Amino acid sequence: MLDAIRQRCSVRTYTDEPVAEEDLQAILEAALCAPTANNVRPWHIVVVTDTEKRETLAGVHQWARFCAQSPVVLAFCADAERQPHWWIEDACAALENALIEAAALGLGACWVGIRGEEGGHGPGLEREQYVREALGIPGHIRVLALVSLGHPAGRPSPKPPGPMDVVHRESW
Ligand SMILES: Cc1cc2nc3c(=O)[nH]c(=O)nc-3n(C[C@H](O)[C@H](O)[C@H](O)COP(=O)(O)O)c2cc1C
Repeated sequence: MLDAIRQRCSVRTYTDEPVAEEDLQAILEAALCAPTANNVRPWHIVVVTDTEKRETLAGVHQWARFCAQSPVVLAFCADAERQPHWWIEDACAALENALIEAAALGLGACWVGIRGEEGGHGPGLEREQYVREALGIPGHIRVLALVSLGHPAGRPSPKPPGPMDVVHRESW
């Protein structure tokens, strides 16, 4: 698993080979092993393989285009009524577990952020609403991000770990 963490990197090009159901199950199970605040487990994951739906998701913004090529797109969501405060952290932890499991299985994946700034400038909540409408996700469910998933068409190199000078011991 430590090797998988070090080998993980964002993969944005994929072959046509479908993701085996057992690999998908392993990735979903890894996601659902993540810690959640107060053990609420507010996550929901929408698994999308339908070509038309993936093409729609790929249009959410310009850095999501490869979702049309990856055989699977996962939408990581959370029930914000059940967990209004910690849903983002909970969904992030699940998503990261999924990325690591995908790397461990030799699959390629990429985190595609879609969350807008609430009440802020820029895309606001429009991207989330776009994904919600594309997948029929109910209003009380928040959408954190998409993950593209497939067999890598190339072997991008993992980045080295970040430098240690951001680590502060005992005090800043
Ligand atoms: C919150 C978040 C949002 C991201 N959104 C996108 C995205 O929309 N499109 C994309 O191609 N990569 C996206 N990424 C992937 C990052 O670009 C990538 O993790 C970063 O460049 C480091 O590369 P690595 O994953 O290969 O280590 C996102 C990553 C995070 C953590």
